[in-house]
Amino acid sequence: MAGETLLIGRVLSFTGSPFEVSAPEATRLDEAVLIRAGKVAAVGGADDLRALAPRAETVDLGAALVTAGFVDAHAHYPQTAIIASWGKRLVDWLNTYTFPEEMRFGDADYARAVAERYLDLTLAHGTTTVASFCTSHPESVDAFFSAAWARGLRAMAGKTCMDRNAPTALRDSAQSAYDDSLALLERWHGVDRLSYAITPRFTPTSSPEQLAALGALWSEHPDCLMQTHLSEQLDEIAWVRSLHPEARDYLDTYEAHGLLGARGLYGHAIHLEPRERHRLREVGAALIHCPTSNSFIGSGLFDMARAKTEGQRVGLATDTGGGSSFSMLRTMAAAYEIGQLSGNVLHPAQLYWLATAGSAGALHMGDRIGNIAPGMEADLIALDLASTPAIAQRAARAHDLWEALFPTLMMGDDRAITGVWVAGRRILPG
Ligand code: GUN
Ligand code: FE
Repeated sequence: MAGETLLIGRVLSFTGSPFEVSAPEATRLDEAVLIRAGKVAAVGGADDLRALAPRAETVDLGAALVTAGFVDAHAHYPQTAIIASWGKRLVDWLNTYTFPEEMRFGDADYARAVAERYLDLTLAHGTTTVASFCTSHPESVDAFFSAAWARGLRAMAGKTCMDRNAPTALRDSAQSAYDDSLALLERWHGVDRLSYAITPRFTPTSSPEQLAALGALWSEHPDCLMQTHLSEQLDEIAWVRSLHPEARDYLDTYEAHGLLGARGLYGHAIHLEPRERHRLREVGAALIHCPTSNSFIGSGLFDMARAKTEGQRVGLATDTGGGSSFSMLRTMAAAYEIGQLSGNVLHPAQLYWLATAGSAGALHMGDRIGNIAPGMEADLIALDLASTPAIAQRAARAHDLWEALFPTLMMGDDRAITGVWVAGRRILPG
């Protein structure tokens, strides 16, 4: 059949969660994946799939590992140019670096240039889906979705709403946040592979009126995601407490305004109270772990073992540019290191699951992306597990797949990504 591609390699997919069953039970390794009309048609033995699709274009990837593309569940594309900015913690970092840069995104040409640069960088790092914050300018949302659309990506984004404690040039109002978000949602939500995420930045920069307006918008469009930040730094939590003495805790400032739900994505969620943990679990909301950001900005140690034991929905993310990398490989390394610092050792299968199926589940897209199985969208990557001399010499000692993969998780970067397919179309190398 025309439009069929057969990838031959070491095809890694998940049959379950490695947080619930052992790594061998949670995964399978096949020889080939057949792509048809942008989706995975079959996974299995190379000879079987050749027989199934004798006229498919065949791409032999040799020893490369073929997996789902990475899913980055929380990023700020407008912070691309200020990544790795020195010396500040959250609130000073926002005021010193972030807000001045975000002010530039009222310029549609600048927004478009950064959106394209960002998506080219993340694709080169093997990330095929991102949930991104934009800036308060509608132009920044149009720029991101236009660039994602042109690349055929599944992507989520929203206008970052702020009507207090931010520079005047970045402030909207409760009404304009509602109106602009609604107009953008109507323009982009459900267009091809794009979805709109309602995006209050965080409680310190949204008045109660704005939080309520966005809560109302979410209740009117319940199939949208809602993304924000929660309990990242202790200073931030104290600030929220002083702004909202009436609230039971930080999460309550969202909950009281209709901003707690299963489709809610709560970035960081490090320093949680028992009630917050209970409510997040009860509604099935997602905690988005951003480990390079948490170490870079000095925020604290996310307790993955506790979150998973509690049954929380958890995604993994770069949080570019508070996060110090565009790479989900580097992000897995940081998640491993933070696990070590908090006394839990994450298995490579758990790290890889978080960066793919786990994040896809957090975004409520687990039936479409983040794994390789018949019917799923063919967003795939090929990984070279010997991409540098340092990695190669360690991988050569490996006794099994996980030991061979782990050096790439710990030391790998975009050089490990040797192929990227988006909806079945090979886009890298182009
Ligand atoms: N909290 C509110 N805004 C931001 C942001 O842009 N980055 C991070 N890391 N935390 C935030
Ligand atoms: Fe963030």
